[in-house]
Amino acid sequence: MPYLSDRIELIRISPIRMIAALLDKARASRSIISFGGGAPSLPPPRELLEEIENLIREKPIKALGYCGTRGLPELRNLIAEDLKKYTGVEYDGEKEIMITDGSTEGIFLTFLSILNKNDEVILIDPTYLGYTEPIKLAGGRIVRIPAKVENGYQPDPEDLKNSVTKRTRAFVLLSPDNPTGRVISREFVKTLVDLAQEHDFWIIYDGAYQHIVYEGENTWPQSYPGAKEYTISVHTFSKEASIPGLRVGYVAAPKEVISAMEKLKQYTSLAPNTFAQYALLKFYENGVKERYLRDVVIPTYKSRRDLMGELIRKYLPEARTITPHGAFYFFVDIRPYLELMGRNDKEFASRLLYRKEVVVIPGSYFGSMGNGHVRMTFVSEPEERIKEGIERIWEFVFSYTI
Ligand SMILES: Cc1ncc(COP(=O)(O)O)c(C=O)c1O
Repeated sequence: MPYLSDRIELIRISPIRMIAALLDKARASRSIISFGGGAPSLPPPRELLEEIENLIREKPIKALGYCGTRGLPELRNLIAEDLKKYTGVEYDGEKEIMITDGSTEGIFLTFLSILNKNDEVILIDPTYLGYTEPIKLAGGRIVRIPAKVENGYQPDPEDLKNSVTKRTRAFVLLSPDNPTGRVISREFVKTLVDLAQEHDFWIIYDGAYQHIVYEGENTWPQSYPGAKEYTISVHTFSKEASIPGLRVGYVAAPKEVISAMEKLKQYTSLAPNTFAQYALLKFYENGVKERYLRDVVIPTYKSRRDLMGELIRKYLPEARTITPHGAFYFFVDIRPYLELMGRNDKEFASRLLYRKEVVVIPGSYFGSMGNGHVRMTFVSEPEERIKEGIERIWEFVFSYTI
């Protein structure tokens, strides 16, 4: 066989995607309880589904044709209006917004657009898995600052100050966070914006869970005076509209960044999913989005979150975690149990799956600060199965510790 590129050796397969593939195979088995991947388990808004049917029936040629590389202008303008509502910042739908194939593509294009060899990107540890490999592919280097359970998983602004160097090109901010569920503090964002302006680096804001907030309000970095021109804001419809399979997201950024991304996108996917974009116009009409979030998404997930939190406290009293104020996850420090069991978090997760058919994600996948933790999502399973899953975890731990 002819050889493959050296580039491929730079990156690893996403362990969460491996678990997702395993689960796909095991789907026939109803007994597997998944606290694994954060895929919404609710149907999308009815208006969106009706529009999907309507488009296929009434306008198949238009809906299934190509669109421009940046996406449909109508949708980009609606997104600009929507962002104004939440951030107070004016975006030009034509020049400063681009539709992407999920935010995964937005993240990939961002790093390819801004990084030169050995440029540094600061990540919080633990953090979402989707940043490290695109940074490596783009030639960048990763610097990490810790977030600890005892501080509510809030990173320390002093650590951020100390990690900035002449080579710092970007900082990635995720709020609400995956894997910890914390909403970033205003104090931290204020320090971040000041530093970005002083040292001239990008703030990459990942807003995957921007509206999935159970208490208080989210903090948007671009809302700070002067921050817009330093911020590349990456978003997705996967979580807030429950359509991860349609693969639609968007990026809001200064026009030079959008132009750079457009060039790259012409050679990766040519253009985003036209059909899904037409359907998404309905998401922004007549308050559909706000109603869906307020009446369906938030109450359903909040109630599952409350139940999972209560059960973790009851069945795993030595574990440490925070009540996530947003997103879909509990990030649980289970070191007291691991010590008794003589196992690490990866062994815990694989044996738990084998012995009790419960999926959790090892915390060490998210960075070294995640050693001895597991991430458990509460979106995939209804409440009775959340209860059963935690009881199975308890039985599993108990069988080792008596
Ligand atoms: C923080 C975060 N960013 C980005 C993504 C990617 O989502 P998508 O590519 O479906 O938009 C995910 C998916 O779980 C995520 O949790």
